[in-house]
Amino acid sequence: MADSPIRVAVLISGSGTNLQALIDAQQRGELPVTIAVVVSNRPGVLGLNRAQNAGIPTQVIDHREFNSRTAFDKAMMIAIDQYQPDLLVLAGFMRILTPEFVGHYTGRMMNIHPSLLPNYPGLHTHRRALEAGDAYHGVTVHFVTEQLDGGPPIVQARVPVLPDDTEEALAERVLEQEHVIYPLAVRWFAEGRLHLEGDRSKLDGELLPPQGHLIDATG
Ligand code: GRF
Repeated sequence: MADSPIRVAVLISGSGTNLQALIDAQQRGELPVTIAVVVSNRPGVLGLNRAQNAGIPTQVIDHREFNSRTAFDKAMMIAIDQYQPDLLVLAGFMRILTPEFVGHYTGRMMNIHPSLLPNYPGLHTHRRALEAGDAYHGVTVHFVTEQLDGGPPIVQARVPVLPDDTEEALAERVLEQEHVIYPLAVRWFAEGRLHLEGDRSKLDGELLPPQGHLIDATG
């Protein structure tokens, strides 16, 4: 059990609403973490302003300034490790990571992906769920492994797909749940209750089901 708040590095590429949900939960006293740094691969994004407004150090590592993925990831690791994080939280971070990077943070890096994994890894998840005529859609927080959007799920929230849904309306319904389940997963980790064990997530000493803990937001 962690006695003092764990140190978290949050990686972003954009608007940072998930980052904001973590900041808000932390400021409400619901998240025993110190957000030690926010790192963005894009300069000028709104997420960086959110961090600065909360007094959190920021780093911009612009991937366009590197001529290989390996060099970019190496620079990221050096920048991140200065802050000695216990956990890396990918919150809308839109770069594919090298095996070296993933291996360096195995068991202490999570991602949020807007689909009910293993459905729809990759991009345009809301459109794909609509086109498939799915009755349900949702979001997954998972540990990061080398497989893109394929690491062991920790928690999923399921939402309904409504008649006449647009991609935007569905995305908004999912995003609302993202802001619930990401702080929850980070809290479990911070409380020492959540671990990666092999290719499964373990909560309070029990292996979680393959899709993770399910929150049903369809009612
Ligand atoms: C979210 O939909 C997240 O699931 C996906 O990227 C989006 C990031 O949103 N990985 P934000 O930057 O947290 O607002």
